[in-house]
Amino acid sequence: MTITSDEFRQRYGPTALVTGASSGIGEQLARALAERGLGLVLVARRRELLEGLAEALSQRYGIEAVAVAVDLARPDFLDELLPACAGMDIGLVVSNAGFGVKGRLHETPPEQLEGMLDVNCRAPLLLARAFAPRLLERGRGGFLVTASIEGYLGFPHSAAYAATKAFVRSLGEGIWQEYREQGLDVLVLSPGATDTEVFARLGMDPKALRAMAPEVVARQALGQLGRGPDFIPGFSNRLFVRVLRILPRRLALRIAGTNMRKALDAARPPEPADPAPAQESQPPRGEEP
Ligand SMILES: NC(=O)c1ccc[n+]([C@@H]2O[C@H](COP(=O)([O-])OP(=O)(O)OC[C@H]3O[C@@H](n4cnc5c(N)ncnc54)[C@H](OP(=O)(O)O)[C@@H]3O)[C@@H](O)[C@H]2O)c1
Repeated sequence: MTITSDEFRQRYGPTALVTGASSGIGEQLARALAERGLGLVLVARRRELLEGLAEALSQRYGIEAVAVAVDLARPDFLDELLPACAGMDIGLVVSNAGFGVKGRLHETPPEQLEGMLDVNCRAPLLLARAFAPRLLERGRGGFLVTASIEGYLGFPHSAAYAATKAFVRSLGEGIWQEYREQGLDVLVLSPGATDTEVFARLGMDPKALRAMAPEVVARQALGQLGRGPDFIPGFSNRLFVRVLRILPRRLALRIAGTNMRKALDAARPPEPADPAPAQESQPPRGEEP
């Protein structure tokens, strides 16, 4: 059953916090939440993008939106973020910020792996810990965490990234059960290839990979918030995950590795001027980054 915008606001409002809101899926989640009338705390590193989005959404939807520029890889990121949220009644915490380091593990700079662990795993874990008490007190609201279809299987040539997404998926599923009887909804969103900035960064062609539009992923995800624990947008992504999980593990890993390798080999040299470490790549549709 679809809930109305009023019901949505009642349950997850008045304010949602969205990490990774400066681009891609996070930006589209923020837009879709504003359309439903929720106020926003927009979190990422690129301040100008966040401020521009906050301004545009406030004007268009008459909501309150604040931009909080913070690096989630910093050990003390909560010290900056929590004071910026003081006095706000946050009913939905969207842990979406993340990136992927691809390639062979032994060739990957260790500091990139550490940064990825911090942003993809440590930040959602600490955010859940920080906001759960207040959400439980309210007895309504929830968490949305962005994982990836790679979180369902080991992924050769993307082993570390896939492992971070398995962590997020496990975390989300665990708290889904832990908190559901206390009125909270938790959704683990596991997109496949999605047409965001990561394609340009890795020199990949989103059309060739039949990537989904981030606004479609965001809308579908919000529609599934109360139907956790898991949601994979896109029929072919769901089918891909299902097939891989049915196949003998060795065969599934071989298929996943071959496709990831092909996608990485087909990429042009990545574009420079990337504020984050090497970002997520997209193997052929359904095989996600
Ligand atoms: N695109 C795909 O095919 C795909 C598939 C499956 C899962 N995902 C997941 O979807 C989520 C969103 O990715 P996207 O595809 O929308 O890519 P994107 O456009 O690159 O968005 C990533 C977001 O994360 C933020 N971010 C990265 N590092 C950060 C840091 N250290 N501190 C704070 N914010 C940081 C970025 O903002 P700043 O650069 O401004 O900090 C940006 O807003 C990620 O978790 C990704 O793993 C993507």
